[in-house]
Amino acid sequence: MITAKRIVLASRPTGAPKPENFRVEDAELPEADEGEVTVRILYLSLDPYMRGRMSEAKSYAAPVPVDGVMEGETIGEVLKSRHNDFAPGDIVRGRTGWVTHAVIRGDRLRHVETHGAPLTTAIGVLGMPGFTAWSGLKFIGKPKPGETVAVAAASGPVGSMVGQLAKLWGARAVGIAGGADKCAFVKDELGFHAAIDHRSENLPSELKTVCADGIDVYFENVGGHVWDAVLPLLNTYGRVPVCGLVAHYNGTSTSESDRLPETMSAILRQSLLVRGFIQTEFAPDHFDEFLSDIGPRVASGEIKYREDIVDGFENAPEAFISMLTGGNFGKLIVQLS
Ligand SMILES: NC(=O)c1ccc[n+]([C@@H]2O[C@H](COP(=O)([O-])OP(=O)(O)OC[C@H]3O[C@@H](n4cnc5c(N)ncnc54)[C@H](OP(=O)(O)O)[C@@H]3O)[C@@H](O)[C@H]2O)c1
Repeated sequence: MITAKRIVLASRPTGAPKPENFRVEDAELPEADEGEVTVRILYLSLDPYMRGRMSEAKSYAAPVPVDGVMEGETIGEVLKSRHNDFAPGDIVRGRTGWVTHAVIRGDRLRHVETHGAPLTTAIGVLGMPGFTAWSGLKFIGKPKPGETVAVAAASGPVGSMVGQLAKLWGARAVGIAGGADKCAFVKDELGFHAAIDHRSENLPSELKTVCADGIDVYFENVGGHVWDAVLPLLNTYGRVPVCGLVAHYNGTSTSESDRLPETMSAILRQSLLVRGFIQTEFAPDHFDEFLSDIGPRVASGEIKYREDIVDGFENAPEAFISMLTGGNFGKLIVQLS
């Protein structure tokens, strides 16, 4: 019998989550039934959307119940299998949640395929975040050669892929990130044409300088004051894939309506396309195409990425809380000992 650990939602946060909103528990792992697989978790992905699952506010997915296991995707090693597609030793990914071990139906697991890149890329640049960037830019942003694509959270797994794809497809990539180190990484390592620090008091004018011909595609990851700076620079027929609004995830107020007239007026005046999406809209039909397109480019080093790997299962809540205000530098992953 395996005694697993799991992290549950102890209480719903108001504003920024705190360590006491989480609880680490022991749990006896049941034996796998027919069609199930027992997995030992190696890596846990921490992602901004999990803040939404901690809240009861209306969303595209049900909240985690209080005392329920926090949701999340993991990479693990199969220990025992009662499913024909999996054998002990296989490396798999699946939505097991924040646990050290899981018994899960085999049809909810996928073998990890990274084209020779490290395993962790399966939950980062070659997993859900990388696919989010690829699908949102390809199907909604549709940058043309010579156009300017801007993206915030540019050193993170979604933003870094957006800018590198924009470049690959012949557009100019402008990254917005928090702090000098992240901006240097975005410009010098990822090769964006420019990187601007959103913490600068002069964000609007600095952004305007590097987007001298305006912005054709703004890949919206954050909202907040970055959106305020971007809005006046959007060109006619600009496209705005709305991917995430992390600047607002900890917000308790719903009365930020002062931005609404300005936003709606720009949408009208500039004939903007503003289109929200959740990557699951595109994944069933396009994930394999993404992986065969981007996998070899990541493995060869043509597409670069950065991971922020935190050691120890118990450190997941603190790392997650910090990510929501920019404490991570790259795709945030917890490595289980
Ligand atoms: N629609 C979908 O299907 C989908 C799927 C995956 C992710 N997403 C969304 O995509 C966005 C990026 O996700 P990710 O996994 O790549 O996250 P990430 O970049 O690893 O982490 C979030 C980053 O957001 C930035 N940030 C936080 N508060 C901010 C603020 N007030 N103003 C500006 N930037 C702020 C921070 O970077 P800096 O330090 O650089 O500011 C932080 O590191 C998130 O909004 C996420 O919810 C959506």
